[in-house]
Formats: sequence, structure tokens, C-alpha cells
Amino acid sequence: MRMYDIIKKKRDGGCLSTEEIRAFVAGYTAGEIPDYQAAALAMAIYFRGMDDRETTDLTLAVRDSGERLDFSKIAGIRADKHSTGGVGDKTSLIVAPTVAALGVKVAKMSGRGLGHTGGTVDKLEAFAGFRTDLPKEEFEEIVNRVGVAIVGQTATLAPADKKLYALRDVTATVDSMPLIASSIMGKKLAADDDCIVLDVKTGSGSFMKTEEKSFELARLMVEIGRRAGKKMSALITDMDAPLGRAVGNSLEVIEAIDTLAGHGPADLTALSVALSAEMLYLAGRGSREECERTVKETIASGAALRKLAEMVEAQGGDPAWVMDTAQFPRAAYERKVLAPRAGFITRMDTEALGLTALSLGAGRNTMGDKIDLTAGFYLEKKTGDRVETGEVLATLYTSKEELLDGAERSFLGATSIEDAPPAPRPLILGHID
Ligand code: URA
Repeated sequence: MRMYDIIKKKRDGGCLSTEEIRAFVAGYTAGEIPDYQAAALAMAIYFRGMDDRETTDLTLAVRDSGERLDFSKIAGIRADKHSTGGVGDKTSLIVAPTVAALGVKVAKMSGRGLGHTGGTVDKLEAFAGFRTDLPKEEFEEIVNRVGVAIVGQTATLAPADKKLYALRDVTATVDSMPLIASSIMGKKLAADDDCIVLDVKTGSGSFMKTEEKSFELARLMVEIGRRAGKKMSALITDMDAPLGRAVGNSLEVIEAIDTLAGHGPADLTALSVALSAEMLYLAGRGSREECERTVKETIASGAALRKLAEMVEAQGGDPAWVMDTAQFPRAAYERKVLAPRAGFITRMDTEALGLTALSLGAGRNTMGDKIDLTAGFYLEKKTGDRVETGEVLATLYTSKEELLDGAERSFLGATSIEDAPPAPRPLILGHID
């Protein structure tokens, strides 16, 4: 089977057979197919799409490209959540300890930043000494003892996705439905969870910009997971503005801690509660209403925050940082961005804002880039807010002063202020169940 013929078939709008998809994934993982041919196929898939059978085949080939994890040594029900990627989305840092505090195990594998979006593994490294590369035995031991651990994707789990993810990140092929679905579900099916809740983002900061496409992606991933025997559900949630107010690694960790302490932003709190409750619901812990009530009680009692501190300690960080966020290093430079006119914020181009955070050092431009953990921004105003001329819209943070001018321009370019307020937009737009 020649890779040339597979690329040509998809380029011309054909349907790839199961054998062709498997040959591509196995050959690329083994290093027998070069990046340029994989990139050409990714672009052909981007333009031509895949039908459900092809996407399922691609997902299963990604799953089978490496080790299939066996969590049978972890006692009890295991639940996970996965977001399709957004800006300011730090819900995993809140949801994982909350659910674990209620006795459902969370053995979580998370990613690093992709494109304009942040990644949980990068965020956790804001805790000095935090280890996201635990050996399997230690990972299992921590999940059994503490109830939760979050690690990076190991080299042996879905290695095809590891290579494809990095390739897509630099070839403008991230925002393709079959490629996203197979990337997320390939990894999730290689792990050994009982229940999976997907948070499918929609809007300008997500990879799927329209509601219609986001619902389609959610349905597709839920279906693939169900066929593989998992309990699945998905929320379709708004990413037309950053989630919460903090964007950037240590800033987001601090905001997640504030939320677990009961004083986080309303949108972040509401979504974290909804996702935690959905995980408990799938794990059989009562009706959705009961699960939501217990989640709120767990946060209010401080148990969820204490669980985060336990996890941080078990993974090599200092739990004192959870109880006192002044311990996190602060950026050397900051700049207040002022409103150029009075009016209402009608739109935040959230992908552009994600790129603004990246330009301050919060993300990577090339695979080897080192992240500035202190970089990012904190929003004082968000979509729908009234502002006066000269009022502070946001504070930018970075370790490199020379990055501030460009970031300020890009922040202002991404934020529209007009005379009339925008129509309100719900945070949770749908539920696939
Ligand atoms: N998250 C993933 O794991 N993969 C994608 O393709 C997009 C978001």
C-alpha cells in the first residue's frame, strides 16, 4: 500500500478503507512514513473530512498504536473529563480534586498547550517541583491513596497521536472534526476509565467555531466512546470569551485555587460544578441534581481544595502554595490595558486573545519553546461589561518587557467596544447524553 495513493484518494474526496487508515497510522508511528506525507494527508482530511466509519477506524488505530492501559489495580470507579481546548480553561484543576474528594477515582492524563489553547500539564508545572511524568506504579499508587493524580501523556500511550498532535499544531490542521475526535478519543480509549465526560467548546476560542459543528463533534465522540463500552456524555460550552478571568499558567492555577476556595469567577465555578456533577452522575452517584448539590457542598467545606493540596504534595509540589497563592512567582513586568472608548464589550476574539497570551510567553511557538509560567493576562472586564474611557480592561504579565507593546496591540485588536450591549450567551449550550 503506497502512502502516495492514500493521500491522493483522500485528496480526491474518496473514503479510506480500514486497512488504509491502519497502514497510515502504523507506518507513521513506526517512522516509516515521513512527516511531509503525514502532513499532506492531514491537510487532505482537513479539506475532505471523513465519514463516521473512517473516523472510528482512525480513532481505534490511534488507540492501538501503543500501550492500552490497565487500571485494574486502581480500586473503585474511575471517571475522567476532557476538553476540546480553550482559552483560560482550567476546569481540570478544579474538577479532578472535587470528584476525587467524593470518592470517585481520577487517573488523569492531560495534554500540553495546542495552538492558541493552554494545556493542563503546563499549568500544573507552575507548582515548583510538580512531576507530571510519574512511572505507572507511582501513578496508580497515588490514585489509590489520594484519589487523584494528573500526568502527561506517556510516550507509550497513543504514540500516533503524540506525533500527529505535534504535526497538526504546526501545519494548520488542528481544527478538523475527524482529527480532533480521533485524537481525543484515541487517547481516552487507550486509558482505562469507566466514565468520560467531554467538554466540547464552541465559539471564537475553540477549534470548532460554530455551534452546529460543536454539537456534531460531541455526538460523534460520545458515539465512538459508547461503542467502545464507556459511559459517556458531553456538554457543549461557550468559548466565545476566555473562561474565568485568568489566562496563562500560574495565573490560571491561582484562579483554580480561588475557585476551589469558593471565590472564583461565576462562569468558571458554574462550569466546574456542572462537569464534576456530570462525572459523578455517570459514576452512579445519584441524580444530576443530587450530584450537583454534593459537589457544591464539597467545595464549600474546603474538602476539594484540601484534595488538590494532597495531590500536589504527592506529585512533588509544595501544598503550602495551595493554601497561600502568594508563593507562586510573579511576572517581572506588567501593563494595564485601558479602554480606548466608552461603551459595552460586545465581542472578544478569543483565539486572538489566546495568541496574545502566547505572545507574552504563556505558550509555545515551536515544539521546543520553554514556557514563561508567569506570563498571561488577567481580565478586569469581559463581554457584556460596560466600560468607561481609560478604565482598565486587563493586566498583561510577562518576564520580557519588550513583549508588552505588541501584546497590548493584539489585546485591543481582539476586543470590540460598541455603544449597545451584546445579546447574552449561555455558558452551557447543550448536553449530549
Ligand atoms: N485536544 C486533543 O487532545 N486533541 C485535539 O485534536 C484537540 C484537542
